[in-house]
Amino acid sequence: FAATDIMCQIPPNCDATHVTLLTEPRAENERNLTWIPIRNKKTNERNERMNFTVCISSLFGEYNNVLQYTQSLEMYRLLGVNRVVIYNTSCGPDLDRLLQSYTQEGFVEIVPWPIDKHLIPSRGWLYAEHGGDLHYFGQLATLNDCIYRYMERSRYVLLNDMDEIIMPYQHNNLMSLMDTLQKQHPNVGVFSIETLIFPKEHFEPSGRFHLPQWSGVPGVNILEHIYREDPDRHRFHRYKLIVQPRMVEQTSVHEVLKRFGQQYNVPLDVCRIIHVRVAKQGSLTLEQLNVDKRLWDFQEKLIPNVDKVLKKVGMLASENLHP
Ligand SMILES: *[C@@H]1O[C@H](CO)[C@@H](O)[C@H](O)[C@H]1NC(C)=O
Ligand SMILES: *[C@@H]1O[C@H](CO)[C@@H](O)[C@H](O)[C@H]1NC(C)=O
Ligand SMILES: *[C@@H]1O[C@H](CO)[C@@H](O)[C@H](O)[C@H]1NC(C)=O
Repeated sequence: FAATDIMCQIPPNCDATHVTLLTEPRAENERNLTWIPIRNKKTNERNERMNFTVCISSLFGEYNNVLQYTQSLEMYRLLGVNRVVIYNTSCGPDLDRLLQSYTQEGFVEIVPWPIDKHLIPSRGWLYAEHGGDLHYFGQLATLNDCIYRYMERSRYVLLNDMDEIIMPYQHNNLMSLMDTLQKQHPNVGVFSIETLIFPKEHFEPSGRFHLPQWSGVPGVNILEHIYREDPDRHRFHRYKLIVQPRMVEQTSVHEVLKRFGQQYNVPLDVCRIIHVRVAKQGSLTLEQLNVDKRLWDFQEKLIPNVDKVLKKVGMLASENLHP
């Protein structure tokens, strides 16, 4: 099975609210139809628009990486993200609790995505290795859905994974980054950002951010991983995306397939993705890695914000709280 995009023209003077899909012309009222609400209608409330929405394509299995999730979400917030959309098939119990809390507050929108009730999704991105009926929990369908869902509500949409942070290196937040880039490249609607891997096997030696109050929280502490691999120029899937959603017709994971404007590769010294995960180039020693402490520039705000969220969901070891 594969994702398909179906484009249909809304008839003039028709204020359509729902659509349905037929495989053949229907005889009137003969069968039950599934009506899907149109969610991206144009509004006139431009000033209430969001600036940045992050789309996270697939949450599945018993994934329970609470600490990295919380740190990433709070980092996004510090960078100026207004909303994070997560397509949820399933998750671990602690992460579930965390996300319920974020949803109530309004920062996170969970889109239920029970694709495993209908098909056997492939659990990895590489079909040859992971098999299944459908590529990676329908990632292409969710990413395209997210772009259209936020097309009229958000100025920019970021397509990245939860363990990735799209990080400006010359600006303090995404808005000043995009203001600069957009002035230099007024016709660009797709900005490609290169991923750099920070292997989670290597820890910063002083233990400065090995904080006692996070000792009981499952998951990776991104502040402890400051060593990054050199960009691997031979790797094909090096980029993730910041797009102007109205300039995108159809997207894939690492590139936009159909667009109206131009595309631009943002230089590494301007913006890059901090991706804390298992090493890609596993044989590299510390001496062959580069020290990159960009995340630490945000620690003064990040740590108390993360603490506040973890406390709210009852996961902070409170007796060790620093003042
Ligand atoms: C339509 O749905 C109703 C209620 O679920 C069901 O009773 C009926 O048999 C369905 N009709 C057709 C043609 O599928
Ligand atoms: C969007 O960015 C502008 C400029 O930085 C800011 O004034 C505005 O408050 C932001 N809007 C939202 C919803 O964050
Ligand atoms: C994610 O989906 C699973 C399975 O339907 C559900 O049990 C869980 O509560 C959902 N989590 C959130 C945060 O919506």
